[in-house]
Amino acid sequence: MPLRPARPTDTDDLYDICLRTGSDGDDASERFSDPRLLGSVYVGPYLALEPALAFVLDDDGRAGGYVLGALDTREFARACERQWWPALRARYPRDAFASGTADAEVVAIVHDPPLPGPEVLDSYPSHLHIDLLPRWQGAGWGRCLIDHLIAQLTAAGSPGVHLTASATNTRAIAFYRRLGFVEVVADGGGITLGRRLDEVGFRPVSG
Ligand SMILES: CC(C)(COP(=O)(O)OP(=O)(O)OC[C@H]1O[C@@H](n2cnc3c(N)ncnc32)[C@H](O)[C@@H]1OP(=O)(O)O)[C@@H](O)C(=O)NCCC(=O)NCCS
Repeated sequence: MPLRPARPTDTDDLYDICLRTGSDGDDASERFSDPRLLGSVYVGPYLALEPALAFVLDDDGRAGGYVLGALDTREFARACERQWWPALRARYPRDAFASGTADAEVVAIVHDPPLPGPEVLDSYPSHLHIDLLPRWQGAGWGRCLIDHLIAQLTAAGSPGVHLTASATNTRAIAFYRRLGFVEVVADGGGITLGRRLDEVGFRPVSG
């Protein structure tokens, strides 16, 4: 079983996986001039602030995929304001990249991180990110990582978990729906799906 907790030494691998799956599940490395930027938003704060909810697929000592969770999204956002965004904002000012570039889009998130509304957070206060390198996809490891994280979130008392995907990442959306996530809200090119945690081990019988 390759699933294990993430270690600080996995950080570079996880940043790399984030980039290599960052374009609707495909490699985004051609789109970014700064290869660390995407991981600085979608990986770094989770490893730093919620390390107990970070799990990887061990690939001969390296990481081949990950799931990262935040137990309480509102509290996580406050912790990021205190401990993560200030240094990143200093490193990447708003005008660090030419407008219209992928880097500039992510820097805008660094300066104005979005927070879902109460229609999401009241029922699904936790959130997650999951990415697997291509050679780990399609073999049940995504479900395995999600099930493991959900067991941790449930044990910690969370009533629900959500995630936001690009509306054009149809493969990931189909995966989440298969695992029992339902659409909560869709806008601005993104779709937020949620799953209540009353049914650990939920597995649809068909479809
Ligand atoms: C999306 C991702 C996490 C799914 O993980 P995975 O290991 O490939 O998926 P699994 O093999 O565990 O699939 C679990 C279930 O979902 C189903 N599923 C997966 N992809 C599907 C698809 N495109 N359409 C329909 N069902 C799908 C599988 O058939 C399987 O069903 P079963 O367990 O009932 O037989 C993984 O493919 C990935 O990392 N993709 C690239 C990065 C990405 O898009 N991340 C999400 C960003 S929001």
